[in-house]
Amino acid sequence: MFASGGSAWSTGLWQTRAMTGTFVEPQPTPLALLLLGHGADSGSERGVECPGDLPAPSDPDLVARAARARAALGSRVYILGHHYQRDEVIQFADVTGDSFKLSQMAAANPEAEFIVFCGVHFMAESADILTADEQRVILPDLAAGCSMADMAEIGQVEQCWRDLEAAGVADVTVPITYMNSSAAIKAFTGRHGGSICTSSNAERSLEWAFDDDWQTSEKKVLFLPDQHLGRNTAVRDLGMALDDCVVYDPRKPNGGLTVEQLQTARMILWRGHCSVHGRFTPSCVDEVRERVPGVTVIVHPECTYEVVEKADVVGSTEKIIATIAAAEPGTSWAVGTELNLVKRLALQHPDKEIVYLDKTVCFCSTMNRIDLPHLVWSLESLVEGTVVNQITVDSDTQHWARVALDRMLALPGPTASRD
Ligand code: 13P
Ligand code: SF4
Repeated sequence: MFASGGSAWSTGLWQTRAMTGTFVEPQPTPLALLLLGHGADSGSERGVECPGDLPAPSDPDLVARAARARAALGSRVYILGHHYQRDEVIQFADVTGDSFKLSQMAAANPEAEFIVFCGVHFMAESADILTADEQRVILPDLAAGCSMADMAEIGQVEQCWRDLEAAGVADVTVPITYMNSSAAIKAFTGRHGGSICTSSNAERSLEWAFDDDWQTSEKKVLFLPDQHLGRNTAVRDLGMALDDCVVYDPRKPNGGLTVEQLQTARMILWRGHCSVHGRFTPSCVDEVRERVPGVTVIVHPECTYEVVEKADVVGSTEKIIATIAAAEPGTSWAVGTELNLVKRLALQHPDKEIVYLDKTVCFCSTMNRIDLPHLVWSLESLVEGTVVNQITVDSDTQHWARVALDRMLALPGPTASRD
């Protein structure tokens, strides 16, 4: 199964048992991927068709071509790879990381002329915002969007703010926006005194918004666009009650909430979610505990509250990687995050048993859009002097989004529970 918006195909049951050496590769059918949001809304964070004259995926020379182009570009190019990328792409990354680490690395490499971002559109936008004007950010496939980011459009967010103004609470509301959002919504966040967060620092961002004590603070938070990360952090890390949170549905008048609900809530959660992490259910946890005796369940905080409550460990992709690396040989782990990362962890740790949390496999379809043909095409184009698929953010949006991103980067390091 590939998930992210409407794109899906079935691959059958997948499970890696690195310890026993059984490793069944998923067999995707040749069905075409549906492009996320294609033609639906040009203003929001979503991909469009990729116009490139791509090499054939069957070209046996693809790895050598990518290596040649990479070598020819030398220090002019810096390749960032998110942990959910395919191995065929990750092998060419100068650095791999979660969205927090990659945003820091993009900002820390002012000498590279080209940043090739192997990730999704909102990450490339953030890199463009954080890098110098003369640096050019390239997304090898423009169709690599994010269905969660697509769940919040700037017009809807502005309407939400008007609803908060009408309820008399906008002046005490701090927007905290997950990295997985369009540059326009990051800019909205900057203009309204808020900060960006990632899954590595969501707790610290909320503490900042509530002036370090939500119980004495008069503030409330509008958390965009992932309701699960917002709820998990507020309830599990800050100690709020579930009733302190309400969900604002952008498709309903006043978000489907009464004025009183907006006035009493401490966390106003945007109705958005990740289509990959949203697939895990509490019964996945029960079933894996039956299937794999003694297993430790580790999940990403984009999973639902019910799943996170049943898990043993919760953390960002960086935390999942570090926890499994530090675990004792012979231990068993069920991992609730994107499948490319789980497969890689299983291969990297043959002394541990690593299984996917769900019985049905699920890649992030848009992360998977970045493949070797797209990487080869974008690198060879750069060698020939043509910049393809450049991601640019206009200067006003960039200014205010940078204000919100800088607030995040200025927070003390990732909090222990999420790093
Ligand atoms: P992190 O990279 O912050 O762990 O987020 C996971 C994700 O879903 C990225 O799209
Ligand atoms: Fe978006 Fe990440 Fe979920 Fe893919 S895994 S849909 S990029 S949040």
